[in-house]
Amino acid sequence: MHDIKSMKREIPVFEVPDAFSKRATIAGMGVYNALCAEAEKDYEGFWARLARGNLFWSRPFTQALDESNAPFYRWFGDGQLNASYNCLDRNLQTGNGDKAAILFEADDGALTRVTYRELHAKVCRFANALKSLGVSGGDRVVIYLPMSIEGVVAMQACARIGAIHSVVFGGFSAKALQERIADLGAVLLITADEQMRAGKVLPLKSIADEALTMGGCESVRHVVVYRRTGNRIEWIENRDRWMHEISASQPETCEAEPVDAEHPLFVLYTSGSTGRPKGVQHSTAGYLLWAMLTMQWTFDIKPEDVFWCTADIGWITGHTYIAYGPLAAGATQIMFEGVPTYPNAGRFWEMISRHRVSIFYTAPTAIRSLIKAADANPQVRPSRYDLTSLRLLGTVGEPINPDTWQWYHHHIGSDRCPIVDTFWQTETGGHMIAPLPGATPLVPGSCTLPLPGIMASVVDESGQALPDGSGGILAIRRPWPSMIRTIWGDPERFRQSYFPAELGGNLYLAGDGAIRDKDNGYFTITGRIDDVLNVSGHRMGTMEIESALVAHPLVAEAAVVGRADEVTGEAICAFVVLKRECPLGGEARQLAGDLRKWVGEQIGPIAKPKDIRFGDNLPKTRSGKIMRRLLRSLAKGETITQDVSTLENPAILEQLGEAF
Ligand code: WTA
Repeated sequence: MHDIKSMKREIPVFEVPDAFSKRATIAGMGVYNALCAEAEKDYEGFWARLARGNLFWSRPFTQALDESNAPFYRWFGDGQLNASYNCLDRNLQTGNGDKAAILFEADDGALTRVTYRELHAKVCRFANALKSLGVSGGDRVVIYLPMSIEGVVAMQACARIGAIHSVVFGGFSAKALQERIADLGAVLLITADEQMRAGKVLPLKSIADEALTMGGCESVRHVVVYRRTGNRIEWIENRDRWMHEISASQPETCEAEPVDAEHPLFVLYTSGSTGRPKGVQHSTAGYLLWAMLTMQWTFDIKPEDVFWCTADIGWITGHTYIAYGPLAAGATQIMFEGVPTYPNAGRFWEMISRHRVSIFYTAPTAIRSLIKAADANPQVRPSRYDLTSLRLLGTVGEPINPDTWQWYHHHIGSDRCPIVDTFWQTETGGHMIAPLPGATPLVPGSCTLPLPGIMASVVDESGQALPDGSGGILAIRRPWPSMIRTIWGDPERFRQSYFPAELGGNLYLAGDGAIRDKDNGYFTITGRIDDVLNVSGHRMGTMEIESALVAHPLVAEAAVVGRADEVTGEAICAFVVLKRECPLGGEARQLAGDLRKWVGEQIGPIAKPKDIRFGDNLPKTRSGKIMRRLLRSLAKGETITQDVSTLENPAILEQLGEAF
């Protein structure tokens, strides 16, 4: 464990604006405290009450929590329900049929609006089409699509028939896609002909085709293709089907299949500290319950809100706060295909203004890059746009530094909108530590307090609770409904990764460091404590990138570390030893370019190292262990003042310290 340190700085407190708290669902700390007290007093009763009051059950549950096979916890285990029914049919019953569910804005600005009734019909038709292709309950369906209404339709249609979806981010490579398909034994792949990004056409179907020829994907019977651009693509008769063609003739209704509460709703892969991504498996009832509750609590969602989460559906944020949460809450949401900087860096602010967005949720990296752009170009300064529709702002995915927080608060929120800095993870399903905007005074840089029912603690390496004010390991003391259920196909890895025996075996280990403030109990996340980097809010395992590098025919050894980056939070730095002589100058630059491209092909462009340095060797101890702390210093450009007496080959530091 490294990099856990205490920090103390003088930062202002932002009280809750009266106007906000008056109308809020959780109006004031009194309500928050009462909910926490209820959870403390009768934990199972608290969750049972919320699950009964918020979800529609086809068969009611009798037991809230079953801990008999911990840490494989079961929630609402004997109940049955359907997630798609809860997101769509219920909105038709409560009078939301003609309300806009999704307003989709394409890369080029074209708009598509679907009401709840239309979305319901699309989902039903596609669910019927999936059934006609032989997909049934428990089958795995991999979704490799760009941001699109069709992406949400695909996810909801799977949920409707009890198939388990696994969305793979459209920026991942053929190899990354193949690994996920093979791990799941998927029967169907849903993709698009191509995707649009910042005015450019990018391939998708051809990458999917390549993935399917790489071996291990024999389980895939059909490829369903959403026609996005209409350009010519390769077609395999009998295997490939157009999404619109197979849906067209299907009936507009499809009964939502009740499934057990614990039935896997989806598997989503994320990086861990080994070379192999983990298939995080979520349940149906517990996951959906928390998606709904956090929409009400953290986002204070109201019927008239226009909600916009800018995440991609390929990440957990896009699952919970696009595909499920807003629909379950009956909200109107914006969905955006493009990037924040196209056609210019005012795109987000312009869209907020045009669509009268009231709740806006994005990543700190996006904000930082837009601050930079606004500094450079007065044309895209937020003051040029009408942002008066906003009432609440949020951030997710990485720590937000206080300066960025304050810029966001002032320039986007006009000093009026609370900011919810939401700490959570792929594994947690939804927000864990986050302010309640009508209750919690805000401190920039702190995600403030655990949500009601979430028992967060800061502990030491043996699992003992630490006193407030000292940095340690973030742990959750009790299971909660939306937690990860297992790692697909690897329950032992699930147990070891999240409930390590060293911490007593019953604490959920988040993998982050945290510190709890002595005065107000507020949490500040200090960053990952394992070998996972956070680049632009995306999780990247250092081992995963190392494995990709050493798979290159010229590479003998590689070590990857992170270094702080002004815009992306962290940047990836790779130290590489070749099977031949260490390259210099132009040759080194050329090879670094080749390796970057290679990593892009092995994993995806988001994993490309920013810096690559070559050496004859890596700094190692006498027992052969790579000394990563030295590499981290070198990456930062620091001169090494640390103790290097255990280092086998000190001369190597000079060579690796030189950028070419
Ligand atoms: C980090 C994204 C600080 C953290 C929802 C966590 C954060 C990882 C915050 C999960 C935040 C996420 N403040 N750090 N508000 N939110 N993180 O699985 O390191 O893609 O463990 O889920 O992002 O990333 P993941």
